[in-house]
Amino acid sequence: AATARPGSGALTFKPIPPNKLDTLVVPNGYDHAVVIKWGDEVVPGAPAFDVRHQSAAAQAKQFGYNNDFVGVLPIDRKRALLVVNHEYTNEDLMFPGFTGQDALTVEQLRVAMAAHGMSVVELERVENTGQWRPARRGRREYNRRVTALATKFELTGPAAGSAWLRTAADPKGRTVVGTLNNCAGGVTPWGTVLSGEENFNQYFVGGDGAPEELKPKLARYGIPTDVRYPSGSRKWDRADERFDLAKHPNEAHRFGWVVEIDPFDPQARPRKHTALGRVKHEGANVIVARSGHVVAYMGDDERFDYLYKFVSDKKFMSGNSWVARKHNLTLLESGTLYVAALTGDSPGEIDGSGTLPADGGFGGRGRWIKLVSGNRSYVDGMTAADVLTFTRLAGDKVGATKMDRPEDVEPSLLTGKVYVALTNNTDRGKAGKAPADEANPRNANKHGQILELVEDRGDNTAETFAWSLPIVCGDPADASTYFAGYDKTRVSPISCPDNVAFDATGNLWISTDGNALGSNDGLFATAVEGPERGHLKQFLTVPLGAETCGPFITKDNRSVFVAVQHPGEISGASVENPASTWPDGDFAKPGVVVTWRLDGGPVGS
Ligand code: FEO
Ligand code: CA
Ligand code: CA
Ligand code: CA
Repeated sequence: AATARPGSGALTFKPIPPNKLDTLVVPNGYDHAVVIKWGDEVVPGAPAFDVRHQSAAAQAKQFGYNNDFVGVLPIDRKRALLVVNHEYTNEDLMFPGFTGQDALTVEQLRVAMAAHGMSVVELERVENTGQWRPARRGRREYNRRVTALATKFELTGPAAGSAWLRTAADPKGRTVVGTLNNCAGGVTPWGTVLSGEENFNQYFVGGDGAPEELKPKLARYGIPTDVRYPSGSRKWDRADERFDLAKHPNEAHRFGWVVEIDPFDPQARPRKHTALGRVKHEGANVIVARSGHVVAYMGDDERFDYLYKFVSDKKFMSGNSWVARKHNLTLLESGTLYVAALTGDSPGEIDGSGTLPADGGFGGRGRWIKLVSGNRSYVDGMTAADVLTFTRLAGDKVGATKMDRPEDVEPSLLTGKVYVALTNNTDRGKAGKAPADEANPRNANKHGQILELVEDRGDNTAETFAWSLPIVCGDPADASTYFAGYDKTRVSPISCPDNVAFDATGNLWISTDGNALGSNDGLFATAVEGPERGHLKQFLTVPLGAETCGPFITKDNRSVFVAVQHPGEISGASVENPASTWPDGDFAKPGVVVTWRLDGGPVGS
């Protein structure tokens, strides 16, 4: 019913069964199309894609590789801006004749750098349907590529200009070239896009030659300090020596931030906001609290790392005036950064098996521990710039709760409740590692769980909260899974939740990465309130070797966008011998897909 509580809607589509098909499968009554894929024109006039004759200059105008976050920002009823992250590259699947990273030419390394970053693409609605395609006419004046190669970023906030961020090329510590490993993200209430710089460590070499006092800090962010070339190194230092930490030890600190880009202002420099801390940021999602302050929720995707939130100093200004827009663009430049500590409330021990506790569910209380407010540090022995640049070390000091890889963290804008995808943690409970606790209740956790966080008094700026696990993922036939008490014979198997999103009625959509049950990854949906809570159903599956990213459901509820990331990423595959031929029947290309209902009705329901 139209008056139903947000998030309680029944989802009527027939679920897609698990499969290993090299195609994208959607439910009966739906259609789908590739919107844009690797190599397609972004900047008007881009050269036609030719896999055998790639250049950095061409790639810097074409759609990049390994699309992850997807945002669709309406211009009017018929036009919208698609904003996409390009997280990383698979050189073995990009370059014909690939024989190893060492054999790549410097130009090929520069192609890979240009294939990282973001794309902004104007879309037009196809007739009166839920289908969208790149705009064919018009000026396409917003179309833009952001790359790791050339785009300049401005650092903002308390750590900007600090000694940690100064380099030979940027002695003031305020301007960074490029963005790396942009994973998930979010659309802000003021019409910009946030993007998380995640596994930036893999781009740096020479950690063994970094200053001794810096080594523990680099190591905490996954940069080996005992070897020049870590295994699997991309060796970008061959194309640009700033990736060599023996020569430029601070360059690594200039990545790992939350990036904000204004897609409606192609001339504006994108920014890296130091006030939101530096971790392996999966992404960031913003809600306006009742007080008007804006709150960004964030995860640090690493085994045993933490959950964060940022509360702005200033208040959101509504409306589309120039004054409001200018003001809102400053909201993420100053505020308070918190890290989460969670405790369980069930009697008895959590034994690590996933068996439900005696009180019938995993849940408890939590508090947000203040790390920094403005320029003031709340962490002993660390300045505000220290805490913001080495936020993981601050979290360690204050005793934050070690989580099972916090990926996407997103508040429902209809209820204010926050949902966290905890993707997996196969090291949980291993010797010398943290054992299971109530929020991370399974040792050797292969399948992950969804955490629901409800701020006290429904106030997103609160410093205390309640939490529960509505879904403990895996095969529903396995006793260690839980679907909010719903009949487990009627739910879809799910493994390794990564990204979350909401449709217009508040239902929760979850995409997966690395399905440990052996079938292809996909997209799922469930109600989160009312009697259908926990009735999880699979909405689509992606081709072989791919993970499902995005997802994004348009505000009119007529279109579901997903990013098909790394199709055919299977050991030994190549351009000549692909493990997936999606989407063109030749070699694998990452691409963004739109799904819509053939009868024009609302998706899901
Ligand atoms: Fe890039 Fe945490 O996924
Ligand atoms: Ca992810
Ligand atoms: Ca999301
Ligand atoms: Ca993942």
